[in-house]
Amino acid sequence: MAFWLCCGNSDRYDFMFVVVVSLYSCSKKRGKANATWRVFSLKELHSATNNFNYDNKLGEGGFGSVYWGQLWDGSQIAVKRLKVFSNKAEMEFAVEVEILARVQHKNLLSLRGYCAEGQERLIVYDYMPNLSLQSHLHGQHSAECLLDWNRRMNIAIGSAEGIVYLHHQATPHIIHRDIKGSNVLLDSDFQARVADFGFAKLIPDGATHVTTKVKGTLGYLAPEYAMLGKANESCDVFSFGILLLELASGRKPIEKISSSVKRSIVDWALPLVCEKKFSELADPRLNGEYVEEELKRVIFVALVCAQSQPEKRPTVLDVVELLKGKSKEKISEIENSEMFRSPPAVEFNDGASAAEDSSDFISAEKELKQELTENTGAMNDTKIN
Ligand SMILES: Nc1ncnc2c1ncn2[C@@H]1O[C@H](COP(=O)(O)OP(=O)(O)OP(=O)(O)O)[C@@H](O)[C@H]1O
Ligand SMILES: [Mg+2]
Repeated sequence: MAFWLCCGNSDRYDFMFVVVVSLYSCSKKRGKANATWRVFSLKELHSATNNFNYDNKLGEGGFGSVYWGQLWDGSQIAVKRLKVFSNKAEMEFAVEVEILARVQHKNLLSLRGYCAEGQERLIVYDYMPNLSLQSHLHGQHSAECLLDWNRRMNIAIGSAEGIVYLHHQATPHIIHRDIKGSNVLLDSDFQARVADFGFAKLIPDGATHVTTKVKGTLGYLAPEYAMLGKANESCDVFSFGILLLELASGRKPIEKISSSVKRSIVDWALPLVCEKKFSELADPRLNGEYVEEELKRVIFVALVCAQSQPEKRPTVLDVVELLKGKSKEKISEIENSEMFRSPPAVEFNDGASAAEDSSDFISAEKELKQELTENTGAMNDTKIN
């Protein structure tokens, strides 16, 4: 079963992707050398999930539904089942399987296997008993307050380490392109596992960025990516900054403050940081129980990650160092930088802010939304596919 491929224009670095995969030969070659994943039969997955019973459903995303299941040996799995068969979905399936098969890291969700029979495409993962970060911050677990400060710090550092692997250690390097709360899963010890590589791009050696159709989730998109489709590692850093703000504050990336006005989490946080009101930034569900120095660190790092100019963002390697508190000088340099000196003049007017920098990404989203609606009509509220 061979898959698709690439059309390149190296002059402009303007190529659409990239992987030549033969899942069949892949499974034959790698399956023997590396027994960490295998091909599942549809019958086996039907039986594991009680025929994809509604009660087994964990959630639904752009690709399809995800079901909890149990294999004959008692181990628990999560099965992602493709909703509608199409070339695009087949491509996403192949990208995810290809990338998952080549990554191995404690903070990345690894592949148990896949199933490709007829028009059925399924991906099998380890089940993560504590579900996603999103479910704890804004979803079904949000009232339980299971994320104390220590867990939040571990999740911040762990997920950054997973991204370090993708950006700096995997060959070729991988940009995730959809870092967000529902794609950070939590294992039984609340260790973070970054998931969902269906949108990922592999970066060929020597390329500074890839130009690509914009994919991802509103609220997390870097402005240059939303507007120009230029994807490189710093787009993931931007999304990670938004995720860090969410983790520390418990707020959503974009908040509706009235029926027509929206505010980004950056526009909310930046003035508070400039006024040094850190206690107002902490998630009220923490009841004041956090390490103040760590909270400040997380917030400063988040905001430098989520700045609109990509060249000013740190790498995710820097982010890990900063979060771990390894470089005190760098943190105080950040603390004293221009962007935290005076509160930006922010006026909210139909989602448009007067402060140029911090409002950039909302306007980017607006333009993008308009463009996509005009061009394809293929846009829902939050997701760009
Ligand atoms: N291995 C897993 N263990 C437990 N829950 C999972 C697992 N994989 C996915 N989920 C949960 O299933 C739900 C659907 O996941 P899915 O990745 O399809 O959609 P999503 O992350 O909400 O959106 P997107 O399509 O943009 O990724 C999410 O809540 C996700 O956290
Ligand atoms: Mg997901």
